[in-house]
Order: sequence, then C-alpha cells, then structure tokens
Amino acid sequence: MFNPHTARTVALVLAILFTWAPAGCQAPAPQAEPIPQPPAPAAGIEPADQQAATDGGVIAWAADGVITPGEYQKNKSFGDFELHWTTDDLYLYMGMKAKTAGWVAVGFDPSSLMKDADIVQGFVKDGALSIADQYSTGQFGPHPADTQLGGTDDMLASGGKSDSGYTTIEFKRKLDTGDKYDKPLHKGSNKIIWAYGSDPQFTIKHFARGSGQIGL
Ligand code: HEM
Repeated sequence: MFNPHTARTVALVLAILFTWAPAGCQAPAPQAEPIPQPPAPAAGIEPADQQAATDGGVIAWAADGVITPGEYQKNKSFGDFELHWTTDDLYLYMGMKAKTAGWVAVGFDPSSLMKDADIVQGFVKDGALSIADQYSTGQFGPHPADTQLGGTDDMLASGGKSDSGYTTIEFKRKLDTGDKYDKPLHKGSNKIIWAYGSDPQFTIKHFARGSGQIGL
C-alpha cells in the first residue's frame, strides 16, 4: 500500500546519500603540477670558494694588498712584521705586512734555522707584485722557487701593495698542496719563520727576521 510519509522519507534519504557521496565515488581531482625546482649545482664546483667569500665570518677576503679589519680570523705581530690568516677545510688565506718598501716573507715548518722552510716571498715594485713559492734547501738558504727544484707553484691567488713605507702581500694556497716542496699545514700550532728586507728583489738578505708559532 502506498504510504506518502514513507515515500517522502525514502526520497529524503536518497537525496542525502547523493549529496554526501564519498570521495571515491566522485570524479578524481586533477593532479597537482610539479613545482619547478632550481637546477642542481654543476659537479666540480667547490663549496670552499663560497666559504672564502665570507672569510673571517665578517667581510670577504680579497687579494688586493689591503688588510681590512674583519678580513682575517687571526693575527700576530712580530715587531714591525704582522701576519694575518684565516683557514677553512682546504685553504690558507694569509696577509703579511712589514715596515719596508722591500721584500717580505713567511716560511712554514723549518727543520733548522731556514732549512726546509716552505717559503712565500714577495715584493712590490712600481706597483707590480712579484711573489714566489719557494723552499729553503740550506740553513741560510738558498730558497729557490719550488718550480726550479722540480716542484709546483701553488699560489692560488695573490695581491700586494707598497705605500707609506709599508708593504702588504696577501695570498691563498691549499693547506696541503701535495707538492713535496710545500709543507702540509695543519689545524693547531704551526712553526713559522718570517723576514723582510730593504730591497724590492728576492736575493738581498733580510734586515729583520725571526720565528714563532701560529695557530691555524
Ligand atoms: C733573501 C735571501 C736570504 C739570505 C741571503 C739569508 C741569509 C741568512 C743568513 C746568512 C742567516 C744567518 C744569521 C743572520 O745573519 O741573520 C739567516 C738567518 C735567518 N733567516 Fe735568512 N736569508 C734570506 C732569506 C730569508 C727568508 C725569506 C726568511 C724567512 C722566510 C729568512 C729567515 C731567517 C731566519 C728566521 C733566520 C734566523 C735563524 C736563527 O738564527 O734561528 N731568511 N739568513
């Protein structure tokens, strides 16, 4: 027997069922577009150079012959000779400044006096920097260029300026260059020698020299 009340109830239930149909019964939602990703960095680019751009954690290192406050993490003075340096995992960034218009030099890890020191010596003449990666073969030199001994020139970047009676030279090298005429530098204390001369050339003896330890 047709009951209008029952028919209205059935119609209502059917309407609710169609309106609240589960998602699985509906048309599938369109797939989201993949978000474009930046290209991956090319293989072979060293993150260490990125670190060099924030050298000292304050300002960028630049081989411009000017030691700017905040450019280096550490420094030490030996009378009128100053050393400034920063290291990261791979490189040493160093600045040396002395009261001279002649040459300035630093030497790493001598065995006795000057002997076996891994030397970086440079001078600025007429505004142009001459710098050499050297090795002292004797107690009082000579300290020829590594290349003359069959080694390699491992200066990666350098710059220098000479004015108002001071010469400043900045350079970058690997902590461990792999050249047998360079000493591997390590974190912690490293023995150094330093010297400067009055002439802007490589072979005239120093008028000041000394030795010490620096912590890398
Ligand atoms: C440019 C050519 C150089 C010559 C002809 C030369 C010569 C000498 C001589 C003869 C001495 C014996 C002591 C004295 O007279 O002072 C000496 C000592 C010394 N030199 Fe040189 N040198 C030269 C470059 C350098 C360089 C580039 C450095 C540093 C990187 C250096 C560091 C020293 C030190 C530290 C001593 C003292 C060693 C000690 O008594 O403990 N020299 N040098």
